[in-house]
Amino acid sequence: MTSRQTLRLAPDAAGLAEAGRLLRAGGLVAFPTETVYGLGADATDGRAVAGIYEAKGRPSFNPLIAHVATREAALALGRFDAAAEALAEAFWPGPLTLVVPLAAGSPISELARAGLDTVGLRVPDHPVAHALLEAAGRPIAGPSANRSGHVSPTDADHVLADLDGRIDAVLDAGPTLVGVESTIVACLDGGPVLLRPGGVSRAALAKVLGRPPGTAAKAARAEAAPLAPGMLASHYAPRAHVRLDAVSVAPGEALLAFGAAMPPHDGPVLNLSAAGDLAEAAANLFGHLRALDAAGATGIAVMPVPHDGLGEAIRDRLARAAAPRD
Ligand code: TXA
Ligand code: MG
Repeated sequence: MTSRQTLRLAPDAAGLAEAGRLLRAGGLVAFPTETVYGLGADATDGRAVAGIYEAKGRPSFNPLIAHVATREAALALGRFDAAAEALAEAFWPGPLTLVVPLAAGSPISELARAGLDTVGLRVPDHPVAHALLEAAGRPIAGPSANRSGHVSPTDADHVLADLDGRIDAVLDAGPTLVGVESTIVACLDGGPVLLRPGGVSRAALAKVLGRPPGTAAKAARAEAAPLAPGMLASHYAPRAHVRLDAVSVAPGEALLAFGAAMPPHDGPVLNLSAAGDLAEAAANLFGHLRALDAAGATGIAVMPVPHDGLGEAIRDRLARAAAPRD
């Protein structure tokens, strides 16, 4: 990853305009919410989202929360059932993330969703976050703004301690209020399920829902391994058998290439990045897997992807796609 100078921006008109400009240009801007600081990038731009994983040094692709300024904007990005609507009405803006099926035509990038056909949506309750989201004019993907494995940051100094030189800017609005992350509730088939406890209590959810939310069998592991096969009913895995580090292509297989040199093959082929660029490869990963799967191949031969930088996360996700599943 390229090192860059990280600006500390004041949350005034000039700072917000600069932060919005950086986000629209595909940059990385850490921003305050009422829970913790988030590391923001344009959620509709896979290359920008790849930068988040790169800056955090995250060894795998977790789905990211898409932050928007208003409830109306969130409602347009997902499909809300009655429970999701009630929770949105009661707790937005606020420390609640709703995981709902993706709306048709929703512009959230595949990488921000880690290939899932669901999306985590949140309307933060913080004036600076609100102003930034208005300035950016698009959904902003944002995990907590810490290096992978570190605790979530609750002020701009924590953010810089982890990410100085790795992101474009941090909007400094002082310490956050809640200090723990948002509560995550999935509203998919089968009723609302609490995936992560957080700023909105289980009792408060129960009051709005009229009954306690369900608990995911492995909810304790939701943060660590949301993509483990079986963890979520909606997890994305190709139907085709995925074969890693392939140096040749077998009959019936499609080819998922990386780099300029490709083995001979006359079936379906897509290249993660002909230039060998790992950020481009990350942005293309889920879409290409999906497209090759749809092409009807029995298997997908994946050329070697390097281990360094984003390559670790790409390889992790490919290994999960290749693993036996239930
Ligand atoms: O308070 C918060 O939620 C903070 C602020 C910045 O908004 N964000 C945050 O993001 O804690 P992160 O990435 O550290 O945790 C988000 C969690 C991840 O564990 C991810 O697996 C889950 O949300 N998540 C997001 N979208 C999901 C989806 N479509 N399905 C299942 N889980 C999802
Ligand atoms: Mg986190």
